[in-house]
Amino acid sequence: MTVKAFRSACLDFVADPFYTSESESVRYIRDALLVVENGKIKDLGDYAQLKAQYADIAIQSHPNHLILPGFIDIHIHFPQTEMIAAYGKQLLEWLEKYTFPTERRFKQKTHADSIAPVFVNELLRNGTTTALVLAAVFPESAEALFEECDRRNMRMIIGKVMMDRNVPDFLKDTAQSSYEDSKRLIERWHHHNRVLYAVTPRFAPTSTPEQLTYAGKLLAEFPDVYLHTHLSENLAEIAWVKELFPDCQNYLDVYDQFGLVRERSIFAHCIHLSDLELERLAEANSAIAFCPTSNTFLGSGLFDIERSIVQQVKLGLATDVGGGTSFSMLKTACEAYKIAQLNHQTLSPFQALFSATLGGAKALSLDDKIGNFALGKEADFIVMDPRSTPIMSLRNPETMPTTLEELADLLFSLIIMGDDRTIHSTYLLGELAHRRD
Ligand code: GUN
Ligand code: ZN
Repeated sequence: MTVKAFRSACLDFVADPFYTSESESVRYIRDALLVVENGKIKDLGDYAQLKAQYADIAIQSHPNHLILPGFIDIHIHFPQTEMIAAYGKQLLEWLEKYTFPTERRFKQKTHADSIAPVFVNELLRNGTTTALVLAAVFPESAEALFEECDRRNMRMIIGKVMMDRNVPDFLKDTAQSSYEDSKRLIERWHHHNRVLYAVTPRFAPTSTPEQLTYAGKLLAEFPDVYLHTHLSENLAEIAWVKELFPDCQNYLDVYDQFGLVRERSIFAHCIHLSDLELERLAEANSAIAFCPTSNTFLGSGLFDIERSIVQQVKLGLATDVGGGTSFSMLKTACEAYKIAQLNHQTLSPFQALFSATLGGAKALSLDDKIGNFALGKEADFIVMDPRSTPIMSLRNPETMPTTLEELADLLFSLIIMGDDRTIHSTYLLGELAHRRD
């Protein structure tokens, strides 16, 4: 039995700040002791109150740093790692010109093996401990990432993309092969240690009705796997879906017709949804992945956070690399704030960080395991340095905040100015997984 203790300021969420007050949703302990036993949270409280109880345990102290639950990125593309920051196109042209040729390389297991550690290291450097990930169409690409994440003992959800039309031949699977390959991967990896599987039709235009039928069959056969896809990101995409599925009431209805809209279904973007579609997502307990840096980069539009909150749809934040421009959930939250500004809405620092932690866990129905420091949860957490650059040292006082108002101000500066340098260290199940040099 191993017990470890970490002393620092500590922040997590115990309720949802979109629906309850900050004082009810934010748990902030200025001088906290976080105790981990066998990779799980054993205790959290004031250091002064807990120190006697844990007197014989070596304590790691991080004075004037802030411990948070690890970030959760609920939509990211593994085989787009090397094509991040590709210039100048909107979604459909960008896919043709940059994405498909890059994803083709993942047919080679050796290539996928070489990118997997780069991808995982980049997540950890940015404080992301869980992600919902699209691999390439090739099952080998999912294998490579599963192996790497399993080696690191990360709670990750991964799926091989299914696409059997409207993509170059070198990227096509078939309805039957996508079913068989996905099934094999589910049987091999779903619930293997900490990793989980997501059935992943890329988006409606690249799957035949037959393939979507097979996706529904997989969900029926393995009810607790995830469903992960894109929805209503770009106006040209939406018009195309209408042409391809003329009998469907709307874009979401395409997925609904095949039994793909339920809990543990995560839809990326959702920028141009009708009220009917939002209501259906709420009713089905499905979740939206809000991908702000991708939405501005690809010129897709401004996601309406307020509407999704009013409709009570589950919502998480996501990078969507390589449409997204950074692995950093802090930079992602910064862009989310700017989109809220352009919509004349608000996004408080607490709401943003909730979305990147417990909100993401709820979106993935993993909030019984990760997302905050409730006792018994898996101890994935990060240590943040509020003074990681000269300008941030100038901006932020040396000592930690005492009031929620001061804390909000500090967090806002981390969201607006922070990046990978802000992440001092990242822990998985209480074990050090990354430390900034
Ligand atoms: N829609 C279908 N495929 C993709 C993709 O790779 N990235 C984004 N942003 N949207 C998509
Ligand atoms: Zn995407």
